[in-house]
Amino acid sequence: MGPYWEDPDSGLQLHCGDMREILPALGIQADCIVTDPPYAETSLEWDRWPDGWPALATIVASSMWCFGSMRMFLDRAPEFTDWKLSQDIVWEKQNGSGFATDRFKRVHEHVTHWYRGDWNAVHHETPKTEVHHRTKGNARGGQPDHTGRRGTSVWEDDGTRLLRTVQRVPNMWRRGAIHPTEKPLGILDPLIRYACPPGGLVVDPFAGSGSTLDAARQSGRRAIGIEAREDYCEAAVRRLSALTLPAA
Ligand SMILES: C[S@@+](CC[C@H](N)C(=O)[O-])C[C@H]1O[C@@H](n2cnc3c(N)ncnc32)[C@H](O)[C@@H]1O
Repeated sequence: MGPYWEDPDSGLQLHCGDMREILPALGIQADCIVTDPPYAETSLEWDRWPDGWPALATIVASSMWCFGSMRMFLDRAPEFTDWKLSQDIVWEKQNGSGFATDRFKRVHEHVTHWYRGDWNAVHHETPKTEVHHRTKGNARGGQPDHTGRRGTSVWEDDGTRLLRTVQRVPNMWRRGAIHPTEKPLGILDPLIRYACPPGGLVVDPFAGSGSTLDAARQSGRRAIGIEAREDYCEAAVRRLSALTLPAA
């Protein structure tokens, strides 16, 4: 079956249906998956974990960013055995999303990066950010490194630093969300830039409002999304059909 919606100009495609049927039928190899599956932690009708989806995901890519909670990843760990964990990121939000009144207020989610095969064969672009407080004369040749050893290499300050593993990005609360767990473009953008080269292909098998597709387009990547609910597919198409200016 063909896509529910597509925009050949920007290389976006949305499929409406169960990812367990659609993903294997796509017959594609993508650069990476960036996805936010149902965590199975709420009473929302769609919030049910599709058994076996991480194994299915290996059909289309060897690199995957996956949102989730610590509880979700621990509960579902046996389903990720086809993947190797490279790193985890914490998305810090401005307000809480937890439901328990007898625990710390949960203001973060995890994003884990998984890969298969040889790490060097998996695209990963070192994530850097510009710094504005440059220090002078901080080359560290001859200074002890963190192990106490004195090295001979000289570190040159090029005005950038690695992105931090804790990323503070406001969630979509009071920002016109069209999905109850919509992810902001600001957290998706660095994940996509890290794992997918410009012009490459991103897949999101749990597309919701189409946020991953939107972020992919804004960073010059192509994307294929799959979403089971038709109302969310309609909302995603409305969003993706609207003119979106590239991110500054
Ligand atoms: C956590 S939400 C994703 C939200 C999305 N990241 C966004 O920013 O809008 C998970 C989505 O997966 C969809 N879903 C659940 N089971 C599915 C399945 N078997 N196949 C495809 N989509 C499914 C749900 O309807 C829901 O919209």
